[in-house]
Amino acid sequence: MRSKYVAGNWKMNMDKAGAVALAKDLVEALKDFDGKFMIAPPYVYLDAVAQILKGSNILLGAQDMAATDNGAHTGAVSAKMLKDIGVQTVILGHSERRYEFYESNRLINRKVLQALENGLEVVLCIGELFSQRIVGVTEDVCELQIRDGLAGVSNDQLSKITIAYEPIWAIGTGKTATPEEAEKVQASVREVIGRIFGKEAAGEIKILYGGSMNASNADELLAQPDIDGGLIGGASLKAETFVPICKSSLTK
Ligand code: PGA
Repeated sequence: MRSKYVAGNWKMNMDKAGAVALAKDLVEALKDFDGKFMIAPPYVYLDAVAQILKGSNILLGAQDMAATDNGAHTGAVSAKMLKDIGVQTVILGHSERRYEFYESNRLINRKVLQALENGLEVVLCIGELFSQRIVGVTEDVCELQIRDGLAGVSNDQLSKITIAYEPIWAIGTGKTATPEEAEKVQASVREVIGRIFGKEAAGEIKILYGGSMNASNADELLAQPDIDGGLIGGASLKAETFVPICKSSLTK
């Protein structure tokens, strides 16, 4: 059986003291649990948080990354720089990157390949707009995001990839997909992985759900066979709201 994975995406929140304090609280609260956990602070606090997470069971993630290697790319942060300060994984293709920063599937694919080449794990986000859901193209949109996002990824490299299905209409809105709605899409995502990478790879890859997941709905969502964890935004900003979701992930 696949073990679960709970990741916190802090987005553009927190100040340095708050980031350090939250990281310390999480290290303490999760230290006795044998699960897979990750937090992704804003870039400028990564180094400070890295010091706190050293030797803990919480992975350090970045929220985005450049598609290119070091060089003349003003304002960008490379995979090598992230590795250098202890980052282990990177969230790519988040809908806020796709829609606020006009990131295309092609650009996201370049970032995925760049991350893998530099030894970072990836959480690749996919998901549909509400307008796409109501016209019934959710699964097609997700399939395209997977096929384009993972183009050129080998079967060996796939073991470093986690998919996060995040219906965009559920992000930060308090409107969660029902466990059945999420499960239906996530099962179809696994089928797509199977068609591209084979049945064994499809059975192994972790597919997280994201979109207003919290301590009250986590149990039901995590009980679905194709929901292997959560990518948590709002509820990851406080230990009281994030730790219970991490604990839920251990019992499913
Ligand atoms: P949310 O965000 O939990 O605040 O809905 C999830 C995400 O964007 O990853």
